[in-house]
Amino acid sequence: MFFTLSLISVLAAAAHSQSLRGIVPKVPYPKNILEGDTVNCESWKFAVETNNIRSWTTIPTSCLKYVQDYMNGPRYAADCNAVAGYAIEYAQNVSISHGSRAGKDAWIFDVDETLLSNLPYYKTVGGYGSKVFNETSFNEWVAKAAAPAIPSSLKFYRQLLPLGFRVIFMTGRSEDQRSSTEKNLKAAGFGFWEMLILRGSDDEGKTAELYKSERRAWLESSGYKIHGNSGDQWSDLACTPLATRSFKLPNPMYYVA
Ligand SMILES: *[C@@H]1O[C@H](CO)[C@@H](O)[C@H](O)[C@H]1NC(C)=O
Ligand SMILES: *[C@@H]1O[C@H](CO)[C@@H](O)[C@H](O)[C@H]1NC(C)=O
Repeated sequence: MFFTLSLISVLAAAAHSQSLRGIVPKVPYPKNILEGDTVNCESWKFAVETNNIRSWTTIPTSCLKYVQDYMNGPRYAADCNAVAGYAIEYAQNVSISHGSRAGKDAWIFDVDETLLSNLPYYKTVGGYGSKVFNETSFNEWVAKAAAPAIPSSLKFYRQLLPLGFRVIFMTGRSEDQRSSTEKNLKAAGFGFWEMLILRGSDDEGKTAELYKSERRAWLESSGYKIHGNSGDQWSDLACTPLATRSFKLPNPMYYVA
């Protein structure tokens, strides 16, 4: 009797693993990005915005028109608007400290594709991210200090200041770009800030994620409470210490680790 039962369970287990072998696909799961030989650009953009795809250097060639249409059409502006709308709703609920704790309620903003738009550069030289990033030509563009504001970010910034937040700009641009960055921010309407943090010589070779999380840790140790953080890259937002709320702006043109 005992023998029969254990034989049955052995047979059942064998049948079970047989059927598992049947259902586990030998090929990778379809990622919904490829449809035949072409890329489904909507799925690709979703994967980009959610940080499911990482370390990509250029947009898929077949998505050039898609990205161009998205960036120039109403969708990009509407998506940026939605980010600002959710951010201000949250910011208005934050209770700002008074007395000895006053002046330490911080909101961090990244600069490129968060406050300032480099679309004029990406439209021409950068090919909407279809070309490998060229640091030389990008730095030439930065030196011109000609990037316009992202309108919804400017509106949000203007609403945020009177609430009592200390605004901190934190950018992957380097310290030698400070004056052109300041000039550009002022010209675009971002005239006040508590701090403008750029990469120093000690930050060379660090990922943006490491550099920015180290600076957030330093801000916290200096007494700041980071209520909000706005950025177009996950590397602006991810890793500890995190802001209480992080707000991701869209950017399907490039990836920064
Ligand atoms: C803001 O506070 C109100 C009232 O407490 C609450 O109903 C609402 O959900 C809050 N909104 C956000 C975005 O936190
Ligand atoms: C990068 O930009 C510089 C300056 O505009 C240009 O001289 C150089 O040819 C570019 N490099 C590539 C690989 O396109």
